[in-house]
Amino acid sequence: MNVKNNSTQFGLVSKLIHWLMAALIIALVAIALYMDTLPRGAEKSELFSLHKGLGVIALASIFLRIIWHRITKVPSPIGEGIKLKMAHAGHLALYLLMLAMPISGMIMSLAGGHAINFFDLFTIAGFAEKNEWLNGIASEVHYYAAQALYVTLAAHVGAALYHHFLLKDDTIKRMTSK
Ligand code: HEM
Ligand code: HEM
Repeated sequence: MNVKNNSTQFGLVSKLIHWLMAALIIALVAIALYMDTLPRGAEKSELFSLHKGLGVIALASIFLRIIWHRITKVPSPIGEGIKLKMAHAGHLALYLLMLAMPISGMIMSLAGGHAINFFDLFTIAGFAEKNEWLNGIASEVHYYAAQALYVTLAAHVGAALYHHFLLKDDTIKRMTSK
């Protein structure tokens, strides 16, 4: 199996980044939705810390992914015409959301005067004085980008299944085994 991508295949590194980040982002959404239902207390704060720590990993991973995909080009999605344009637009939207989510999350926390403790390894100090305006904007961005992520991701998974089961092409295979 190739490490790098070529014009028709994803290599090992891109596959690993894709599936690890997919798992990470689904875990982040699941943790966030659960932590929001909890009353204030130890369990809620622990899940907040976990969500923030994993979110920082997601931010580092998306930067690595972008750098890797500058080094080895992503193969063009299978399809042509409007469908190809939709696939490109969908992937671009996913990249923008993978950046917007962790960046807005970090700004929301820090501007709210809360530190980000990364798994007890290091801490990014929050603003000494809460900035209500910035905290409010970042919180709105985090919330609405999450809604956009649900829709885009549903379309993404739907499109992958459509390619696999109806068009019967290599779209899923080249991101997994092939
Ligand atoms: C768990 C369900 C998922 C499935 C079944 C899935 C499936 C796929 C497949 C088959 C491809 C290859 C498309 C092609 O050949 O052009 C792909 C690419 C891609 N996927 Fe997913 N995916 C999933 C989750 C995610 C998540 C959670 C994200 C990010 C939020 C994501 C972002 C991307 C991006 C950006 C690409 C374009 C290739 C790249 O730049 O890495 N996927 N996905
Ligand atoms: C890819 C990364 C991330 C994803 C997919 C994600 C997803 C979510 C989702 C779905 C919610 C619930 C919707 C909402 O209430 O806004 C949420 C809430 C939250 N996220 Fe994130 N998040 C990510 C990164 C981060 C980061 C890096 C931080 C901070 C360091 C963070 C801090 C928060 C906080 C504090 C909340 C609670 C907001 C509230 O209850 O008002 N998130 N996140």
